[in-house]
Amino acid sequence: MIIAVPKEILPGENRIAMVPDLVQKLIKEGFIVKVEKNAGIKAGFTDEMYINAGAEVIKGLSDLYAEADIILKVQRPVEDKESGKHELDYLKKDSLLITFLYPLYYPELAEKCASKNINVISMDQIPRTTLAQKMDALSSQANLAGYKSVIMCANELGKVFPLMMTAAGTISPAKVVIMGAGVAGLQALGTAKRLGAVVEVSDIRPSAKEEVQSLGGRFIELKTDENMQDSGGYAKEQSAEFLQKQKDLIFKHITEADIVITTALIPGKKAPILVTEEMIKNMRKGSVVLDMAVEYGGNCEISECGKTVTKHGVRIIGEPNIPSFVAVNASELYSKNIFNLLMHISKNANLNLNIEDEIVKGSLIIFNGEIVHERTKQLLK
Ligand code: NAI
Repeated sequence: MIIAVPKEILPGENRIAMVPDLVQKLIKEGFIVKVEKNAGIKAGFTDEMYINAGAEVIKGLSDLYAEADIILKVQRPVEDKESGKHELDYLKKDSLLITFLYPLYYPELAEKCASKNINVISMDQIPRTTLAQKMDALSSQANLAGYKSVIMCANELGKVFPLMMTAAGTISPAKVVIMGAGVAGLQALGTAKRLGAVVEVSDIRPSAKEEVQSLGGRFIELKTDENMQDSGGYAKEQSAEFLQKQKDLIFKHITEADIVITTALIPGKKAPILVTEEMIKNMRKGSVVLDMAVEYGGNCEISECGKTVTKHGVRIIGEPNIPSFVAVNASELYSKNIFNLLMHISKNANLNLNIEDEIVKGSLIIFNGEIVHERTKQLLK
């Protein structure tokens, strides 16, 4: 089968879906791999590296996609500004697109793929189970984003992180508050601790407390009788009353922080507002807020998607694609996730999709021109 790897055209995307080392492995498995010219350059992978790995480098999407059976991408397909054509218009009928489609946020795009008879596996829907761990691209990318978010905040802050005792005086450590102790939040906690900050973390899942403490963070505990965790271990959607209680509790912590990083999200839902404008007004001038959930409504009431703004003297970072800033590692890990998935769904370099398989069932969105993903179907109803 022929695998095609295009250059990402969504603005700001530096990653590539398959790195040369793994291209080599795919070829060894029996696949033919075609890569668009200059596709990996922003992540430091040259055409020469792909050619040396055994891939064919192709100029232009028409030629790249003409015979491709499987297309590996990072971002959802969008309109190509240069040609004015939608990326989907180049894809062969019945081909399989593997990418972050985010069907729960872009259900119409799923519908568009179905209308063109493009099969889709969406990497954001790979179940977060032990069996699927090595294909869990949301986690591999969120982990890197958690690290980078701390570095970005440190860059904006006019203070250092660690306690410093110098002849010229003592500097007290920076205070970092992290909302959400999932993959991104825990990595942000570990990174901020390593830089020497005092870190407080809030999460609504009681089980997060132990993880936070084991990484040296202080847990901001929210006493509640409600069961905030679903059977899969994810946070449940919270009531307005609950969120108000939480805001009252965290007000003091947020307003005393130098840096606030928010990572709270319930998969498929609009992000809950946790940091209000009122809190920002009460923060020290020069403090920094980074809203990781900005693309899905934002945890901060006044963050702006794709922008870093100063409001009430506080720097507010609303970057929706942090993994792209560490494109080398992000591409490497994402490629490995995809490689593992391909090994799971193929045999002798041919697709062998078992739609009853737990991983396929969770992440297959479109099959044979039909939306087969239950939650996407519900949304479209
Ligand atoms: P995750 O699902 O592992 O963690 C989210 C955490 O938020 C969970 O522990 C959950 O219990 C918690 N949470 C939910 N509601 C809360 C509330 N009201 N208060 C406190 N905690 C609450 O998700 P992951 O992978 O860590 O990603 C976190 C967020 O970061 C998501 O919104 C994701 O879309 C975003 N993200 C953004 C990136 C960017 O470049 N801006 C890159 C990667 C992820």
